[in-house]
Amino acid sequence: MKIAVFEVREDEKNALHRLEETDKVSLFLTEKPYHSPDQLPPGTEAVSVLGQSPLDAGALAGLKAAGVRWISTRTVGTDHIDLQAAKKLGLRVCNAAYPPNGVADFTVMLMLLALRHYKPALWRQQVNDYSLEGLMGQEMKNQTVGIIGTGRIGAAVIQNLTGFGCRILACDPVPKAGLDALAQYVDLATLLRESTVISVHLPLTQENRHLINRQAIAQMRPGVVLINTARGELMELSALKEGIENQKIGALGMDVFENESGIYHQNRKTDILRNEKMAYLRQFPNVILTQHMAFYTDTNVSSMVDCGIRGILKMASGERCPWEV
Ligand code: COI
Repeated sequence: MKIAVFEVREDEKNALHRLEETDKVSLFLTEKPYHSPDQLPPGTEAVSVLGQSPLDAGALAGLKAAGVRWISTRTVGTDHIDLQAAKKLGLRVCNAAYPPNGVADFTVMLMLLALRHYKPALWRQQVNDYSLEGLMGQEMKNQTVGIIGTGRIGAAVIQNLTGFGCRILACDPVPKAGLDALAQYVDLATLLRESTVISVHLPLTQENRHLINRQAIAQMRPGVVLINTARGELMELSALKEGIENQKIGALGMDVFENESGIYHQNRKTDILRNEKMAYLRQFPNVILTQHMAFYTDTNVSSMVDCGIRGILKMASGERCPWEV
């Protein structure tokens, strides 16, 4: 089996080489995203990508025509792949199933950084300004934290939060069995109205794109803290910008950003940022941006590589792949 592996990072290479030996698979590795079938070495039957290779219907048809039958994305999110088109073409796809803890921990960290004004405190430290003015924070215990989406990651965030003694609200069309002992399930309107901190944990779909828009923000409490470690497109950027400018939003903690592709995970130190809203919003002391790194832990990277390659091998051998989508 020959698998072409795209968007390979340096830190994935050792694990990939190990799998070549243990699983007797032939891997073609490239750091580039996938964009056309000419990138495939002859005889490629499967392709593995990360989040920056958009596999729309046209790209999938091209892969199929080139002889590809199996695809893996080494990400949990599958919004860069047209899964319906893949199904129609008979291409089988799996994603990654890494544990939720890395992202859940990072989410709580962003909440704390926002509540304790860590960004302006860090700026001051760097210029030997040790003053306290304007840095008085708020305690987690006194918050009502609203979690939108209680899949694996949302549930792990709730689990993490239980130690802080805060009130926890949750919203999901399919409540998770047992989670109601830790959080109070409410409808979205109640969650938006009552929460002082709101965090989204949803896979991005056509239906929930810009779920957090002007109307949603209008229903929130003044000074609300918004956290996003899922997908930038879940929040409407122009509404966030407006909420920060008019101070309806108290702080934003965002590990993801609408149209981050081509910026995040690259060194753009000497470039001019073409994402104007990102360039504008990042100046605010109460806007904490990180470079889509909540997933980035040793445990997760090794699981992503494993799921990406072993998922393809399972699908190809006719074995059930639990993380096939
Ligand atoms: C995912 O696994 O879905 C992520 O968000 C991380 C990935 C873009 C590297």
